[in-house]
Amino acid sequence: MRLAVNIDHIATLRNARGEQEPDPVAAALLAEQYGAAGIVCHLREDRRHIKDNDLARLRQAVTTKLDLEMAMTTELQQIALKTRPELITLVPEKREELTTEGGFDIARHFAVLVEFLKPFKPAGIEVSLFIEPEKNAINLAAEAGADIVELHTGLYALKQGDERALELSRIREAAAYARGLGLRVVAGHGLDYHNITPFREIPDIEEVSIGHAIIARAVITGLGEAVKEMLRIIK
Ligand code: PXP
Repeated sequence: MRLAVNIDHIATLRNARGEQEPDPVAAALLAEQYGAAGIVCHLREDRRHIKDNDLARLRQAVTTKLDLEMAMTTELQQIALKTRPELITLVPEKREELTTEGGFDIARHFAVLVEFLKPFKPAGIEVSLFIEPEKNAINLAAEAGADIVELHTGLYALKQGDERALELSRIREAAAYARGLGLRVVAGHGLDYHNITPFREIPDIEEVSIGHAIIARAVITGLGEAVKEMLRIIK
């Protein structure tokens, strides 16, 4: 199973001081150097973390696979076609949410979605739809011409015990069903160092997309070295 690393939170931290560091591009290159199969960034409508300039620089720097997460807006469509990431992932986006809260409601937007996706194939940009692990959503994703479905694992991450096991089997079945329709399958949201292991046993999921847990872990595992380095300078 491959790992795609979402580096949005590096930009969140950078923006807290309005300065240049930490640089999401440097983080992307490190993630690639250590084995990430792809870099994910979400250019939100409010630009709260990744900015347009970050996206342009990421496009220049990323050599594995750049996945642009975005809402279905004309503005983002134009930016994606100009920037040419290897892949776009369409997500629903609400201005007030802290993070993406659920899968894309394809049924509600089907006709608009089909029109929206038309220019991406000729441009050589693959399309992934972030959806709930449900048959109906998978059928519609295939019908709309998606290459990939990203199954939402947020509920799995939130649940415990039997409820979590049930959610995992829903994800496993959805992955098998999507593969049967010829879709490629990835999974993401809320995955961390404690809940990821069962995904190793789901061969239909080829990749996981993880952001928060990895960036949070990096801050803690890197802090000792950062303190040591500062002490070396001031002592
Ligand atoms: N996949 C999608 C579609 C997302 O919107 C996000 C969050 O930006 C992720 C994966 C990563 O989620 P997390 O930060 O919880 O690992």
